[in-house]
Amino acid sequence: MGSLRVLGGPYTRPPVAPLSRTGPVAVVGASGSLGFGLAIRLARTGVPIAIGSRDPERAVQTATRAAAAIPDGSFAAYDNAGAVRAAGAVILSVPFRNQSETLATLRDALRPGQLLIDATVPLAAAVGGRATRMLGVWQGSAAEQAAEMAPAGVRVVSALHTVSATKLNDLDRVLDEDVLVCGDARADKREAALLIERIEGLRCVDCGRLEMSRTAESLTALLIGVNARYKVHAGVRLAGLCDPSWE
Ligand SMILES: NC(=O)c1ccc[n+]([C@@H]2O[C@H](COP(=O)([O-])OP(=O)(O)OC[C@H]3O[C@@H](n4cnc5c(N)ncnc54)[C@H](OP(=O)(O)O)[C@@H]3O)[C@@H](O)[C@H]2O)c1
Repeated sequence: MGSLRVLGGPYTRPPVAPLSRTGPVAVVGASGSLGFGLAIRLARTGVPIAIGSRDPERAVQTATRAAAAIPDGSFAAYDNAGAVRAAGAVILSVPFRNQSETLATLRDALRPGQLLIDATVPLAAAVGGRATRMLGVWQGSAAEQAAEMAPAGVRVVSALHTVSATKLNDLDRVLDEDVLVCGDARADKREAALLIERIEGLRCVDCGRLEMSRTAESLTALLIGVNARYKVHAGVRLAGLCDPSWE
């Protein structure tokens, strides 16, 4: 499909870190809670966003909603494949039950060298179970399933599982938490971290290889239980780490 570009005036806030890739960041699932929150938070830091949806009309509506939230942001609306083609990096933010079919439809759009940041959490709620329980994933984690399904050469990193969409969407809310980043190549994790850390208050921690994503993903189930008990939107903060460097 063609794209709708919703552009505001020049962005005033100085960039936190230079963007390492040209082109926008695609958010697949941007009409959802997490995807929308990430889209507007990143756009607020000057990152151009390619809004992806299965439904082009919903992508347009989402881009319009995002532009209303961030008038200086740059949002373009596409179907999911169009967003991925337009982007340097891709954030995958869809329910676990739809992760594999979404990746299957993106097979021809994803290209070698592209960075894919997977935020999927395989909660049992995906199959009618409890949100405080995890599903077993044959590959070990949702991220490893993504890596298996993505075309060869796509660089898969997992992150953002423990960041509350509610907090991201409330732009007045000050964030102050860690983002657990897993991946098989340090350079890929660094690239994801430099992007994510543009969002003020998010600190990325290198949590090891992609196989560690199983642990990072399962923390979401734990946090959902904590949130229900304490009526909060808790995140994680690792103690004893002073300014972990990505250099
Ligand atoms: N919500 C949170 O606080 C949070 C935090 C961390 C991680 N996560 C994880 O991030 C992912 C997204 O969470 P969410 O809460 O944003 O989910 P969501 O709002 O339920 O869905 C996100 C988007 O996925 C797309 N989608 C829905 N059904 C689909 C289907 N059958 N096939 C393909 N795409 C479909 C929809 O976009 P279109 O209809 O526009 O295509 C939808 O807006 C999940 O894996 C979740 O576990 C969520």
